[in-house]
Amino acid sequence: MQTPFYYYDKKLLQETLDVINREASRYAGFHVHYAVKANVDSTVLGMINAAGLGCDCVSGWEVDVCLKAGFPASRVVFAGVGKSDWEINRSLDADIACFNVESAPELDVINELAKAKGKVARVALRVNPDVDAHTHRYITTGLSENKFGIAMNMLDMIVQHAHTLPNIQFEGLHFHIGSQLLDLEPYKRLCERINYLQEELEGKGVRMKSINVGGGLGCDYVSPDENPIPDFASYFRIFADHLALRNGQELHFELGRSVVCQCGSLISRVLYVKEGNNKKFVILDAGMSDLIRPALYQAHHKIENLTAAPGSLKEKYDVVGPICESSDTFGEDELLPTTRRGDLVALRSAGAYGQIMSSNYNCRPTPPSVVL
Ligand code: LLP
Repeated sequence: MQTPFYYYDKKLLQETLDVINREASRYAGFHVHYAVKANVDSTVLGMINAAGLGCDCVSGWEVDVCLKAGFPASRVVFAGVGKSDWEINRSLDADIACFNVESAPELDVINELAKAKGKVARVALRVNPDVDAHTHRYITTGLSENKFGIAMNMLDMIVQHAHTLPNIQFEGLHFHIGSQLLDLEPYKRLCERINYLQEELEGKGVRMKSINVGGGLGCDYVSPDENPIPDFASYFRIFADHLALRNGQELHFELGRSVVCQCGSLISRVLYVKEGNNKKFVILDAGMSDLIRPALYQAHHKIENLTAAPGSLKEKYDVVGPICESSDTFGEDELLPTTRRGDLVALRSAGAYGQIMSSNYNCRPTPPSVVL
């Protein structure tokens, strides 16, 4: 089979979805959306739709992909700091569940476009809660210096403004503090912020139908076999214990990585094993065009030689790709069994933000999927 390719394990994905549904259904009003930006493989999307999750989209193209995959528009929400007019129009036509609005000017544009269609757009306002998610700085989103959301001190004014717009229906607040959170403490602080904001708004007579706390639950990149399914029980419990939901209020989640991360691996073949002065290099046929996370976020994916002779000696290698960039490196001083040309290698935990972030750099084709 031609390498590299992404391999997805349907059984693990189904088990993960079952745990999500089991744990979320313990609490009244909890609704889980899948953040489709993590992976849009058609089988993966089909399974997530069949499990009854909604979709969280961040572009009009993603909205299209979800609708084509069969997700009902009533389960599609649309976030993003820069929504183009066509993306808003497309979503209005489809009658999606909610726009997560990130600024006052965007609110006015949605109102105008909805008015032109004689529609009323349901919106949640995305608030920047200034909560530190303690994650890589490229994937933290809820600090006041980040571009996302509406600053808390402007919220009241914008909520009041939303209520004056005839083609806007205010649904509630939206948050997302960052991605790959393994420590759940920041979610407690998020709950405290939300409780405070909700009381403030209620004091002014504003009621909210729903609250959306975004996504961000991380997965174990170091030990994927020991922890194939993230701890959804503790994650949902944090919100059940710390968020003061009102009677009948809905709580929405937008989980991406935690749903699909562990079910995917990038499978690659060893092209050469090269001796350097003090190093040995394993040169793969997969590169940063196939999996950019190590180059972009200094992320590490566990590397496994799938075809080495059993019991063979372990040696240290730098595992690199074929692309003309020094950052095209998957691991340094990796302890692997003696590795040879032709061996198959798995880069684990690559189901989220792997295939979807692949590019045509060096005119390379993007890697296909194999789902088993
Ligand atoms: N909701 C919003 C508004 C988001 O921006 C994101 C992710 C999510 C939900 C889903 O977050 P998750 O549950 O997947 O953490 N490419 C990076 C991750 C970027 C995440 C961007 N936003 C990576 O490879 O680590």
